[in-house]
Amino acid sequence: MARSNGNGNSRPEGAALVTGASGGIGAATAHALAAGGWPVAVHFRSNPEGAAEVVASIERSGGRAIAVGADLDSAEAADQLLTQVEESFGPVLVLVNNAGRRADGLSPQIKDQEWQQVIETNLNAAFRLTRRTLKPMLRARFGRVVNVASVVGPRANPGQANYAASKAGLIGMTKTIAVEVARRGVTVNAVAPGLVETGLTADLPAGAFDEAIPARRPGTPEEIAACIGFLASDEASYVTGSVLTVDGGMSA
Ligand SMILES: NC(=O)c1ccc[n+]([C@@H]2O[C@H](COP(=O)([O-])OP(=O)(O)OC[C@H]3O[C@@H](n4cnc5c(N)ncnc54)[C@H](OP(=O)(O)O)[C@@H]3O)[C@@H](O)[C@H]2O)c1
Repeated sequence: MARSNGNGNSRPEGAALVTGASGGIGAATAHALAAGGWPVAVHFRSNPEGAAEVVASIERSGGRAIAVGADLDSAEAADQLLTQVEESFGPVLVLVNNAGRRADGLSPQIKDQEWQQVIETNLNAAFRLTRRTLKPMLRARFGRVVNVASVVGPRANPGQANYAASKAGLIGMTKTIAVEVARRGVTVNAVAPGLVETGLTADLPAGAFDEAIPARRPGTPEEIAACIGFLASDEASYVTGSVLTVDGGMSA
C-alpha cells in the first residue's frame, strides 16, 4: 500500500515515532512530521499530559497521532513500544531518536549511575529502537532515522563527559548504520543542535551563552524540528550519514 506525499510521489504506508515528544524539540518534531503527512506516535516517559496535548493539537490540525509511554532505559521497551505503534499505524518508517538526558559534573565527580543512565538513554536506547525499526524499513525499501545528537560530543564541553560520550557515540552509530543500509532506500542522519530553550536547559541562566552564539540567541525547538523534518522528507532521499549542525553558528 502506498499513499501520496503531496508531491505526486507515493511513499509506503507507515508511521513516524518521535521519542521524548511530550515537550521541547520532540513535540515540535511531532508537529512537523504530522504536517508532512505522517501519522505520529508521540512517545513520553514521565509526562503523559504533555504528550496528550501534542496529540490533541495534531488532531485539531487534521493529523493522526497517538501517545505511547515507555521508559527507554528498559531493554524490552523498544520492542514493546514499536509493537504498540505498529498495531495502530503499521510499520514505523520514520524514527526520530530524540529522548535524552543530562547528568552534568566534572569527571572526578560523575558517579557510575550518572554515567550509565546518560549512555543508556541517549545511546543504548537509540540503538535498540533503530535496530528494531530497520527490518520493516528495509522491507519497505523506505526509511528515515534521525538521531538528535548535539554540538557537544564532536567538541568538548567541560562538565558533560557522559553526555559528550553519548552524543559522539550516537554520531558514530549514525554514520555506520547509514552505510550499512544505504542501498535499500533507508537513510540515517543526525542533527546536532547547539543551545535550545527547552526543559533540558531550563536550569541554565537566560542569556548566559548568547555571547558564544554568533546569532546571539538560543535556538527554538521549531528551528531544530524543521531540520529533522527535512531529513525525514522524501526530498532528503540522497542525504545519509550526515550530521546537520543547527546552532546559530556556534561551532562554525
Ligand atoms: N535543549 C538543548 O539545548 C539541546 C541541545 C543539543 C541537543 N539536545 C538534545 O535534544 C533532545 C531533546 O531534548 P530537549 O532539549 O527537547 O529536552 P526535553 O524537553 O527535556 O526532552 C527530553 C525528552 O527525553 C525524554 N526522556 C528522558 N529520559 C528518558 C528515558 N529514560 N526514557 C524515555 N524518555 C526519556 C523526556 O521524557 P519525559 O519528559 O516524558 O520524561 C523528555 O521528553 C535530547 O536528546 C537532547 O540531548 C538538546
